[in-house]
Order: sequence, then C-alpha cells, then structure tokens
Amino acid sequence: MAIPQQTIDHILDRVDLVELIGQRVKLKKTGRTYSGCCPFHQEKSPSFHVYQDKQYYHCFGCQANGNAIRFLMDIDSRNFIDVMKDLSSQTGIELPKDNTDQKKLSYKKTNTPTQTTPSSINTKEESLTFQPEHDPFAIFSEQENFDHSDLPIAQNIDQEGNLYDLLENVAQFYQQQLKHSTTAQQYFKQRGLSQTTINDWRLGYAPEDWQHLDKAFASDIEGLKKVGLIRTSDNGRDFNLLRERVIFPIRDPKGRIVGFGGRALNNEIKPKYINSPDSDIFHKNQLLYGLYEGTKNKAKDWLMVEGYMDVIALSQAGIHGGVATLGTASNTEHLNVLFKRNPRLTIAFDGDQAGQKAARRTLEIALPLLEDGRELKFFILPNDHDPDSLIQREGLEHFKSLWQTAPLLSDFLFALLTQGENITHPEGKSHVMGELKNLTNMLPPKGSYRYLLAQSFREKLGLGRRFTPQNNNDASLSFNIQTKDKDFAIALLISQPFLYKEFEQLRAYVPQEDLLGYVLSTLDKIFDHLPEDPDAAVYYVLGATTAAQIEVTTILKTTNIFNLIESPEKALNLAKEYSLSLQEDYLKEKMKKPSSLAESQHLRLKLNELTKQISLKLLQ
Ligand code: UTP
Ligand code: MN
Repeated sequence: MAIPQQTIDHILDRVDLVELIGQRVKLKKTGRTYSGCCPFHQEKSPSFHVYQDKQYYHCFGCQANGNAIRFLMDIDSRNFIDVMKDLSSQTGIELPKDNTDQKKLSYKKTNTPTQTTPSSINTKEESLTFQPEHDPFAIFSEQENFDHSDLPIAQNIDQEGNLYDLLENVAQFYQQQLKHSTTAQQYFKQRGLSQTTINDWRLGYAPEDWQHLDKAFASDIEGLKKVGLIRTSDNGRDFNLLRERVIFPIRDPKGRIVGFGGRALNNEIKPKYINSPDSDIFHKNQLLYGLYEGTKNKAKDWLMVEGYMDVIALSQAGIHGGVATLGTASNTEHLNVLFKRNPRLTIAFDGDQAGQKAARRTLEIALPLLEDGRELKFFILPNDHDPDSLIQREGLEHFKSLWQTAPLLSDFLFALLTQGENITHPEGKSHVMGELKNLTNMLPPKGSYRYLLAQSFREKLGLGRRFTPQNNNDASLSFNIQTKDKDFAIALLISQPFLYKEFEQLRAYVPQEDLLGYVLSTLDKIFDHLPEDPDAAVYYVLGATTAAQIEVTTILKTTNIFNLIESPEKALNLAKEYSLSLQEDYLKEKMKKPSSLAESQHLRLKLNELTKQISLKLLQ
C-alpha cells in the first residue's frame, strides 16, 4: 500500500509525540523539552529527549531519533504499514484503501457444512468456542490498542475468511487436541514442561488423522491451503502438513498466530521439526520465536538460542529474553530487531563443530551492525548441550553464570582466529592480524571498534608495548606473574610444609618447570610422610628439594620468612591469601590464550568462583 506523503504529514501533525512516547517512557519536562530514560538502550540517567514543537525525539546516548512513526516501528519492531494503520485509527485520518493488501489476508470460505467428526476429532463448534483457560498475554493485547479487526470473529457470515482469524482458531483446535492425547501430554511432561508453561505458550497437538483440519474446518480449506497447513499430494489428494506432532504456535510481534512448528514425538521420526511454510502472514526471515512473549514479560537481556524448546525452557526458568529463529539461519533483520531492544545481545551456540560454524557465520552478519554502544557476546555451550538440556541437567544458576561469563566479542574473536595457529612465530602473528583485518573491515567504518579490536589483538599477540606474548605453552604462562608472590609462596611452603594443603589447588595451574611448580609437586609426593615435628619437617622438605637447593635457600633468605611468621594463624592466613591470588593470576594468564572456546568458558567460570572466594576472604 502506497501512502501519499500528504497523508503521512497530516497524520504526523495530529499525533502528539509527547503523549505517544509518554505511554511507554516516563518523561519529565525539562525546559522546552521532555526527557526520560531511553527505551532503546539501557541507561540510568536520562539522555532521551522529546521535542514537542518539532515532533521529534533524540537520544544522546545511542543516537536513536525520529518521529512518531519511527518510534512505533522501532519500539515494537513493526513495519511501516502496520504502524500507519494504527496511527490512522488513532487520529481518524484515513489511509487510502488498498484492496490488494486486504485480499492477501483473506480467502474464500465455502459453504460446506461441518462434517460429523470421528470421536478422535473434536467438532468445529468445540474448537471455535474454546477459550484458552489461561492466556497471561491477553491482558496486554487489550491495553495496547490491539487491532481488533484482526481478532477472530465467531463465524464469518459474508463468506470471506481472514487468515489471522483462521490461524487463531486452528491454534485453539490444536490446544484442545492436546487435552485428548495422553501421549502428547506425556511428551511435554517428560520434557519438564509445567501446565502453566504449556498454557502460556499455547502448546498443542496435531492428531494422526491425515485430514483432521479438513474435517474440523470444512469451510476454510482455501485458507488452510494458503497458509500451507493443507497440502496436495502428487496424486491430487489433500493432506495435513502437521500430523502426530506436538505443536508450537508462532506469534508475530503483535501476538497474532501466524504459523506453527510441529515436533515429532520421538527422535526416530525425521524430520524432527516441521514448520508451516512462509505465507502472506508468515515471514520467517523477519520473525523470532519468543519475541512477543519476551516483550510482554518485560525481558531486558535477550539471548538468541537455536530452538523452540530452548526458548520455552528458559522462560519456564524465569529467563524471558530467549528467542529463536524459525528453523532458519539468523539474518541481519533478526539481529537488528534485538539490538534495537537492547544494544547488548548474547547469542548462544552449541559447543560442537556445527555450532562453531554457525557462530562464525553469525559473526559475519553481526559485525556490520556493531555500531558504537552495541555489545555482542558469544555464549558457547559446553559440549552436547543446548540451553534446555543445560538448565535441566546443571541447573539455572550454572546456566546463568555461564551466560554472564560468556566471552566478549574481542575475546571470542581472538580464540577463534588463533585456533590452530602458532602465535609465538611472527608468521602466525601476522596471519592472525591479517584475518582480523578481513573481519574488522566488515565493521561500521565510523565506529571505534576497528581500532579497539586491533589494539587488543596487538597486545594479546605481544605486538604492543605493554605485554609479552602469551603462548599456549604453559611454561611461559608464569612469565607475567609477580615473582615476588611466587617466592613468598615457596618460602611459606618450605618453612611451614603443612600449609601445602592450602596450596593444593594451585598446583594444577603452575607449570612443572617453574620453581613453584617443582616445590608443589615435591610436597605433593612427600606430604603423607612428613615428620610430625615442625623443624624436622622443614629439613625433610629441604632434603627433598635439593635439586633446587640454591634457589630455595636464596628465597628463604630474601623473604626473611622465618622471622616474619609470628604465629601459625598468621601463616595459615597468608597461605590462603597467596594461594588464592596466585590461582587468580595464573587463571588470568591462561585465559589470554585458551586452547579452545570451551576452555575459555570454563576458565571464566573458574575465575568467577575464585573472585568470589577472594572477596569473601577479604570480608572476613
Ligand atoms: P535442534 O535439532 O537443535 O533441536 O533444532 P532442539 O531445538 O534441541 O529440539 P529438541 O530439544 O530436540 O526438541 C533447533 C531448531 O531448528 C529447527 C527448529 O526450529 C528447532 O527448534 N529445526 C530442527 C527444524 O526446523 N527442523 C528440524 O528437523 C530440526
Ligand atoms: Mn534441545
């Protein structure tokens, strides 16, 4: 539908932008403008301004700006026509009639009377009168000037059907069928879904019958064909696309049902999922499963996952920002929709090879979108897990901490590009920098990301001034760690060998070639045989470490350890402190060059725990 500029201007003149934005954002009058916290990025102090006289808004934080139309399009991820229709009904200014648009949404109903349905199939009457017992989102639809013309109307008398109405009724039918199938109910139960979750997501079941929809919706065959739920086989027989599958209805950002995903009841059946095809109301490339539900639940942090079940499992666990594509690869539009809601976005990937490939592909789509202020994280899941299985098996807290510690783009890129590279050699370094250049060329030219990424790579590769290179070779890991701290730990260990217990955890991090590593592994071997008498124990240790006699005695002297330790309590305390902070140092070093993405994630988690322990210790 083409809308003349005149009509657009006319409508914009009638809209009060302050009032319109005021419904979504708390605005305060400041001088000649109104200001509030920007709805397009997260902020604590208001940098979002609305100019009433100019009917224009601008955010000084994220540069979002525009008029009423832009605002509504961006805040609800709606298209232009959609927004114009809304504004037209609000202002009373009519849009030009466009028959083709309307035609797309309608189909011809036939006057076939509803057949008597077999017992396994419910009558059409039942499906039409069925109301979901619990739709927590219904209330929002009411509040939001939901376009009522799109809502189901009981039975169309003028023989013209509307596709949205039809799909709403089909969704209700599938929901109803779930009540009649213990197998399907059992399936959801076994996947850990509660009744509330099933209701909220309007999950359903498509029965086995090859023509159950034809029977239940006898006068809507044309519509059902238009949305691809009824298909015609080569020999001319009609059959239903989704049979003997549990059903995931897919809603558009306005909450209207626009398509369905159907999952087989066991993993032997292929394909595992069948999605209804694109249609005049279902555009997979623009939709995200869970976006409507997440928005209604006021999700802030969005997490892009792979499957419907992941989105649902997340929401059941109280994380409402999960979204998934509809069985397609993610594209620019998907990412933009999410970036507009929150400039900080995390994308989850399976830890396997396919997941890494997908991550790389997504990366290339995402880079051009990374304006300043946007932050992208890659959440690589531990092997063989998706969010659903991870939450079920390891618990919500574990999941959350992995999400929290997901690597930032720069770390992720470094890990990705240095995989299989020998970055101790100049050739390796320059190869990595070259690859980086290819990728940074995809970044928006004006942003500062290019510079920052290159800088961080230079440092990590040891091309900068501040850092020495980090190799994967553990021996060099200790290079950056304060020799002083290590010496003190050695001194403590020799003078108070029973304190080894406090250092046991540290042993895993310290390379054997390192003097500290040598002392730790020696103590590990002899600990069970240490004499009870403290002095005798010291001599025993000195004897066991003769291979490093000169270094050890020098350390004992320079640290002045024997005079420093006033009490066993003090020694114990110091040992705890040094052990923790050295573990932290080694971990940090190791993290600069993880051997794999999974390792990087694992190290981050460890570091998190460690930091917690250290702060607890400081609070003691
Ligand atoms: P996965 O195969 O990763 O399955 O598909 P999943 O999401 O973990 O599913 P469950 O947990 O076994 O039920 C991820 C997504 O890819 C699409 C679906 O959208 C699915 O949610 N998909 C998958 C298909 O469209 N067709 C398929 O045959 C498989
Ligand atoms: Mn799964």
